[in-house]
Amino acid sequence: MEPRPVSLRVPSRELLPAYARALARGWSPDSSQDVSAAQLRAIVADPDAFLDKLRQSRGRIRLDDGRLVPRLPGFVRWMDDGEVCGSINFRHQPGTEELPAYCSGHVGYSVAPWKRRRGVATAALALMLDEIRAAGTGLRRVRITCDADNDASWRVIERNGGARKADEPPMRPGGKTKLAFWVAL
Ligand SMILES: CC(C)(COP(=O)(O)OP(=O)(O)OC[C@H]1O[C@@H](n2cnc3c(N)ncnc32)[C@H](O)[C@@H]1OP(=O)(O)O)[C@@H](O)C(=O)NCCC(=O)NCCS
Repeated sequence: MEPRPVSLRVPSRELLPAYARALARGWSPDSSQDVSAAQLRAIVADPDAFLDKLRQSRGRIRLDDGRLVPRLPGFVRWMDDGEVCGSINFRHQPGTEELPAYCSGHVGYSVAPWKRRRGVATAALALMLDEIRAAGTGLRRVRITCDADNDASWRVIERNGGARKADEPPMRPGGKTKLAFWVAL
């Protein structure tokens, strides 16, 4: 199928089969760990509960290190170029541009490996910035970080107007140094 320009879609039952196909092909929406098998199991077990959890902005989440922390309000969008080809998410602390130490940035994203290097992430971040502007959070800028050796990701951020601030130490012992950017809204 000829790819279409990328759009951002609200996760839904209608799109869930296409999302599950991308997972089954080996894409993990979480770049820090491979969550494809676990997500596929959750979708098969209870598709509505899976979607509800994606849409949740309250409660708590468990970090990789086992800590339970408050889930920040925000939203997830799926990238669609004729098929689901990635995801992008936004979270924030109401009333401040600061983020808790366990959260490296306001926006995170991942593109399916077979859709990379086609401008998908660059276009998706531009669309997400528009959605954040429209969400009325009061934020005037968002912070986005990436590992220092993630050339593709820092290019995506710079293509969207990211201004680099001081590099940040790794989030966990043995982790990678992070590049941090502010992107004006
Ligand atoms: C980072 C990622 C989202 C980029 O997605 P993408 O759709 O391939 O990005 P784009 O096609 O928009 O490319 C953006 C730029 O990066 C460049 N680029 C893409 N892949 C690259 C690579 N592997 N090495 C070097 N540069 C790369 C592109 O040439 C483009 O540069 P340009 O703007 O100068 O032309 C994708 O590689 C990915 O999902 N990686 C795993 C998850 C991840 O790292 N997420 C980011 C966490 S901060």
